[in-house]
Amino acid sequence: MFLELTRPELVCTGNLIDGRWTGAAEGARYPVTNPANGECFAEAADSSLADARAATDAAARALPGWRGTLPRERAAFLRRWHGLILANLEDLARIMSTEQGKPLAEARGEVRYGASYVEWFAEEAPRVYGDLIPEQQRGKRMIAVKEPIGIVAAITPWNFPLAMIARKIAPALAVGCTVVAKPAEDTPLTALALARLAQEAGLPDGVLNMITASRERGVSAVADWLADARVRKITFTGSTAVGKHLARASADTLKKLSLELGGNAPFIVFDDADVDAAITGLMASKFRNGGQTCVCPNRVYVQAGVYDAFARKLGERVEALKVGPATDEAAQIGPMINARAVDKIARHVDDALSHGARVLTGGRRLDALGPNYYAPTVLLDANDRMAVCCEETFGPVVPLFRFEREEDVIRAANDTPYGLAAYFYTRDARRIHRVSAQLEAGVIGANEGAVSSEAAPFGGVKESGYGREGSRYGLDDYLSVKYVCEGGLD
Ligand code: SIN
Repeated sequence: MFLELTRPELVCTGNLIDGRWTGAAEGARYPVTNPANGECFAEAADSSLADARAATDAAARALPGWRGTLPRERAAFLRRWHGLILANLEDLARIMSTEQGKPLAEARGEVRYGASYVEWFAEEAPRVYGDLIPEQQRGKRMIAVKEPIGIVAAITPWNFPLAMIARKIAPALAVGCTVVAKPAEDTPLTALALARLAQEAGLPDGVLNMITASRERGVSAVADWLADARVRKITFTGSTAVGKHLARASADTLKKLSLELGGNAPFIVFDDADVDAAITGLMASKFRNGGQTCVCPNRVYVQAGVYDAFARKLGERVEALKVGPATDEAAQIGPMINARAVDKIARHVDDALSHGARVLTGGRRLDALGPNYYAPTVLLDANDRMAVCCEETFGPVVPLFRFEREEDVIRAANDTPYGLAAYFYTRDARRIHRVSAQLEAGVIGANEGAVSSEAAPFGGVKESGYGREGSRYGLDDYLSVKYVCEGGLD
């Protein structure tokens, strides 16, 4: 069996609350399915309000002790956790591929990527400096101290079941916050395995609490965190619609939020670009996780002078992609997460065709492989009346738009409510500076398709959200600044 693991005990299906693994308070469970074949292979706790409340109670009890630890003690825990994640890489990758569908090679890469955030924040933990403000009045000393914000609720998506939760939990723990977390309903098991490894690394009870839930019950669980004044921060990666709901629903308790939301990334290829490098960058960026990535290019604009050559070469590369389940080690593209995802992709392709696009390659479901497969697709003659232009497709579809002038493509690229990532290829150094400055996005890839890194600030502008994850900026979202004014010193 594919899910044969070196350590089967890493498959946890209960909630972790106050250091104990328990079922949901109401005893409910929900099925976890393998997107490659649609079969249920595990059942996870289906939590609701009572479980969310118990998690918050535990996090509140643990907070004074954890925030009182020395930064180097927290760093030592994070280093142990990092070591255990890498030591269990293969098991984690297999759990992840089974519940999320990404090919094994990519799942292994994601385990390393997620672990890199844990290592990074272990290194950052002892470097959370405040300021001694230069003297402004005689006899007064002004100090700015950075403190952990308190209890953090982390709500994470299915597309990167390990990396997204690691890059939220690691900085929170590094600065002394305690955490309540809910991974996506489709992919609870990778996150639970990660929590188990945190326990093995010696995390005190109650510092990290994790509950799982189906879509229906998850709403009431999260609602409890939103209303609970003890939860001081929500960190969320997911859709813009849900992000807006979280912002509204947490307004009464004025929580700090970081929201990493939807994108609609443009990828621009200018006539003066290295076309082969641009295609390599696009392949890496667009087909990562089968196109189910917030930062992956959604609209590809190619300047008229290189359009035909670019399309021909790209078509050959896309045609050669190997699609298959994670059990096939050679697979480069796995199944989409579920039937809804495939339906959306098919709808976008049909809509594009009805508005004048032509299929260069792909453009069809791959039902012979399983219920959730879609062929990697390139569409020619895309235009702004198509859904692929204004909605995130979240699948392996590349619509190619033709453009003539730089100012027109900048306007088109920015003509979206979203602003997570944007990419462009050019050999002109002045254009690199000019275009980087004009693109409305939080992350820019200039002659580069692989932009994500634990050392870089990740996050969007406009309706792609706010807050930054990773890098030294990634700590700020979990801190509040306290100003201490000491008087009578003269
Ligand atoms: C995402 O899809 O939300 C994040 C991907 C990344 O970290 O590169």
